Amino acid sequence: MSRIAEIQAREILDSRGLPTVEVDIRVDDGAWGRASVPSGASTGTAEALELRDDDANRYDGRGVSRAVENVRSAIGPALVGHAVEDQLTLDARLIELDGTENKSRLGANALLGVSLAAAHAAAASRDVPLYRHLHELTTQLFQADEGDLCRQLAIPAPTMHRVSRSPATTFGPRLPLPMTNMISGGLHAGGNLDFQDVLILPVGAPNYRTGLEWIVRVYRRLGELLKASGYEGRLVGDEGGFGPRLPDNDSAIEMVTRAIEAARLRPGADVAIALDVASTHFYDGSHYRLAATGDARLTNQEMIEQLVALVDRYPIVSIEDGLAEEDWSGWQELTRRLGDRVRLVGDDLFATNPRRVRRGIGEQTANAVLIKVNQIGTLAETLYTMRIAQEAGYTRVVSARSGETEDTTIADLAVGAAGEQIKIGSIVRSERLVKYNRLLRIAEELGE
Ligand code: PGA
Ligand code: ZN
Repeated sequence: MSRIAEIQAREILDSRGLPTVEVDIRVDDGAWGRASVPSGASTGTAEALELRDDDANRYDGRGVSRAVENVRSAIGPALVGHAVEDQLTLDARLIELDGTENKSRLGANALLGVSLAAAHAAAASRDVPLYRHLHELTTQLFQADEGDLCRQLAIPAPTMHRVSRSPATTFGPRLPLPMTNMISGGLHAGGNLDFQDVLILPVGAPNYRTGLEWIVRVYRRLGELLKASGYEGRLVGDEGGFGPRLPDNDSAIEMVTRAIEAARLRPGADVAIALDVASTHFYDGSHYRLAATGDARLTNQEMIEQLVALVDRYPIVSIEDGLAEEDWSGWQELTRRLGDRVRLVGDDLFATNPRRVRRGIGEQTANAVLIKVNQIGTLAETLYTMRIAQEAGYTRVVSARSGETEDTTIADLAVGAAGEQIKIGSIVRSERLVKYNRLLRIAEELGE
């Protein structure tokens, strides 16, 4: 078994030009792996802590030199000699070294860089593509005794007996369905939309390659439509979606529906619509404040009615964070109202945290989980969250962050851990395309 010989870390820049952590791991057989860490803008409060320097003289206080130093001086020496393939004990050691529930001592960015770089190094050492290595890890972890797993990862064991609706170990590596950003608002673009993203899914495409071509076609038709309607059809938000100053949220969905038709595709049958409402960011603790809709102040009941009306009107198949991260009772009601018609995806709500996903399942809240590796901070915990979701029949949507790098790990993760969907952002900006393109190469290898 190959062992870790050296761990290096450095500060690099992400797609917003802000510092993030990159880690290289060298193995004693000469193989090596590298990973870098993404960063969100519309973060949930339950996320693991991203350690920043707070030194206003460097990068406006956004430097990550403390996290880098933690990898060099605290994590590196503790992990040299560790079996690189043994991801579970390696991540367990990371969790132990940090010792806090939200990874605030060493920083989730420090931990995640090491965790992911180890997976890359292990795949290289075994001379297999990362998605194959991750698929084996997933199978291992899905079959492991849950009590043992929880003990190792310092997660409380599940208190109730959960009945597994789908056997977790029967899938092979497979290509996910992309969910792609068309129009951006919220904290991701300069326009005036409250909703963060209007996205599309090529639900009727026979394979990934064709689906990607449809997505590009709709995106290009949308740019033309926006321009012809007098809006900015070129400026894009953090994830590459158009950021026009449309009058309201409905008109963004309307424009995307028209773009699907202009692409000679059938809305709903070929290409469906998804929303990331990201509503935590306009919730004031009691009301949802929709600035783009005449400064409306909605209760959760009224917000639910709005979402139901949108689903009635447009070919919407998925709504993410339709309600705020702490509005659990509203979420339950939303799930009762729309759960059998659309995917209700918990992002800020679940924060990729096994404890929160368990609570959601127990309270019949949502039916899909957004999976963002840096919300939880290690690969093993991410896979455990995916296992819980899978066993409860919740859809897993592997997702990038609005701040990304040229790292492609999530493409391999979605394939290896058989996430049904992947959310990378739009099909412009290279920190997004590097992942879409990685999936094209994997599709070729898998003959899909
Ligand atoms: P974030 O956005 O990375 O800024 O959190 C992505 C999302 O909300 O899904
Ligand atoms: Zn989201």
